[in-house]
Amino acid sequence: MAFAGRHVVLGVSGGIACYKSCTLARRLTEAGAAVDVVLTHAAAEFVRPVTFEALTGRPVLTSLWERDRALAHIGLAREPDLVIVAPATAHLLARAAMGLADDLLTALLLARSGAVLAAPAMNDAMYAHPATRANARALAERGWSFVGPETGPLAEGPSERPGRMSEPEAILTAAERLLLQRAPWQGKSVVVTAGPTREHLDPVRVVTNPSSGRMGYALAEAAYARGADVVLISGPSDLALPFGVTAHRVETTAEMQRAAQALVTRADLFVMAAAPADYRPTQPSAAKRPRADGGLTIELEATPDILGSLKRPKKCVVIGFALEVGGNGLARAQAKLREKDLDAIILNDAHEPGAGFEVTTNRVTIIRRNGEPIELPLLAKRDVADKILDAVEQSLT
Ligand SMILES: Cc1cc2nc3c(=O)[nH]c(=O)nc-3n(C[C@H](O)[C@H](O)[C@H](O)COP(=O)(O)O)c2cc1C
Repeated sequence: MAFAGRHVVLGVSGGIACYKSCTLARRLTEAGAAVDVVLTHAAAEFVRPVTFEALTGRPVLTSLWERDRALAHIGLAREPDLVIVAPATAHLLARAAMGLADDLLTALLLARSGAVLAAPAMNDAMYAHPATRANARALAERGWSFVGPETGPLAEGPSERPGRMSEPEAILTAAERLLLQRAPWQGKSVVVTAGPTREHLDPVRVVTNPSSGRMGYALAEAAYARGADVVLISGPSDLALPFGVTAHRVETTAEMQRAAQALVTRADLFVMAAAPADYRPTQPSAAKRPRADGGLTIELEATPDILGSLKRPKKCVVIGFALEVGGNGLARAQAKLREKDLDAIILNDAHEPGAGFEVTTNRVTIIRRNGEPIELPLLAKRDVADKILDAVEQSLT
């Protein structure tokens, strides 16, 4: 969404992480951006220009001296919405920090006044070197944004210090945040709950539900992309934490309630996208219950009602979810909105194909305190998340 119709320059300098830049070029193109790839001479030793040409469908530039493109570096500095440098080698950072302009990439970076996002990638000792630290600091002071590097395995072996380039997914999210930044979200604190919770019958058996956490994770990612500071209170989920989002992991509904109450006190927006277990065993067993022939009767009690008991600051906008099964869902969701004093409630139907738990899509109706319900078609959960945030954006003060 952030990339559709946008013009992005992807500058690639000569590091081993060039192979990940191919994925990045592909993903940017798939997301609708026009991507002009500019390679340094060293980068062209790692990946040939034709690879990027095939991935982006556009000519790739490697030299200041291309025929018929005499002032390409000025056009490519001024026109794009964003310049991404990935990987940014130690050498590239040094040249850019010094204001050198001895190839197409550094010349366009020197002529650029708009947004630049750099993803450094190098040996950990090179990154830790005071020269590289000073160069990165100088560029940050001049307005460059950075993503990574991460700690993790390097081409030369394992490492416990930063140096590894961030994954394309993280670079895309950081780029999206630069492109999307919307005034109402800057500096806002957003808390999202996601996933199921688990209530133990005994140490090895639980009462839970099949929620994957996808809707909440998509909301957290979308809020971060708009510029908010985001905390995700997540029940057990296998999903990767969205880039830039702080995780607060919980297991039971009571733990989720405690975390929600503690974090809501400084939140501007609280979204209850989790599907907490509504019941827990009255008497969980400390030891594994032996398998017995015949049935087993377990007494359950209600878990805490997280939204019902939430004490929120006045300024905090609160969104709940209503998972209904079949007819009359709208009326029940509207009643829940009033009872729980919510600003909006998102209605979805657990029995509808492609909606609800475990799937990557959802069909929802957004019901606000004021205004007509907004019925959305079946969409990817990330697109649903953006529509939900659009619907409440004007309530953020
Ligand atoms: C196999 C190999 C891998 C390299 N990997 C990196 C790297 O990951 N990061 C880095 O800063 N330099 C790396 N270098 C060194 C750069 O290629 C070298 O500094 C080059 O001058 C960078 O030029 P550029 O910044 O103009 O692309 C590597 C060199 C070789 C031969």
